[in-house]
Amino acid sequence: MDKVHVLDHPLLQHKLSILRDARTGVKDFREVVSEIATLMCYEATRDLPLEEVEIKTPVATGKFKALSGKKLAIVPVLRAGLGMVDGILTLIPSAKVGHIGLYRDPQTLEPVEYYCKMPNDISERDVIILDPMLATGGSASAAIQFLKNYGVKHIKLMNIIAAPEGIERVHKDHPDVDIYCAAVDEKLNDHGYIVPGLGDAGDRIFGTK
Ligand code: PRP
Ligand code: URA
Repeated sequence: MDKVHVLDHPLLQHKLSILRDARTGVKDFREVVSEIATLMCYEATRDLPLEEVEIKTPVATGKFKALSGKKLAIVPVLRAGLGMVDGILTLIPSAKVGHIGLYRDPQTLEPVEYYCKMPNDISERDVIILDPMLATGGSASAAIQFLKNYGVKHIKLMNIIAAPEGIERVHKDHPDVDIYCAAVDEKLNDHGYIVPGLGDAGDRIFGTK
């Protein structure tokens, strides 16, 4: 599927294995989530537009490339998406940050919205939604719809691990959205957890259980 970008880089795969390991503690888990977000950001921004600028080096004047100033926003899905924010801001420090609070009802697995705060000019920005886990796809699909209702036109979804079911759901509901992930796992279990996955991303980032 040309809308799914699996970022198969050795550094990413190595760091993802650290996240998967049940022995990894909260400090390391949080740090590695952030590092993975930085590495993924590098790929997910590959199509940012450039413009030509004239620069005087200590030796000569020449024409070079600079970002053309496209406005970006990142939108973490609370809670777990928060763990990816700093890693992205390392590379794009001027990006604005919106927040969507969604949790998945453990019985129905349907997303429940509890918070939303967007930059005023969100409709003029290209948005990258951040959430480490794409399981059934319910949360991601709802977050994307949310942003579309605000008038956002270009949306990318960044997940660390995706399940085939989630990819299918997002692709069906929002065929215009590119999905960036570091792995596509095997399946979901009966509780909607990704197998083999890494467990509950929010709990492991924040040390709740
Ligand atoms: C997790 C995860 C996603 C969602 C994925 O959040 O961070 O938001 O589940 O599942 P889905 O694709 O089936 O919707 P959770 O509901 O556990 O909330 P939390 O981030 O507050 O822990
Ligand atoms: N949310 C998580 O945090 N982990 C999963 O495996 C599925 C949903």
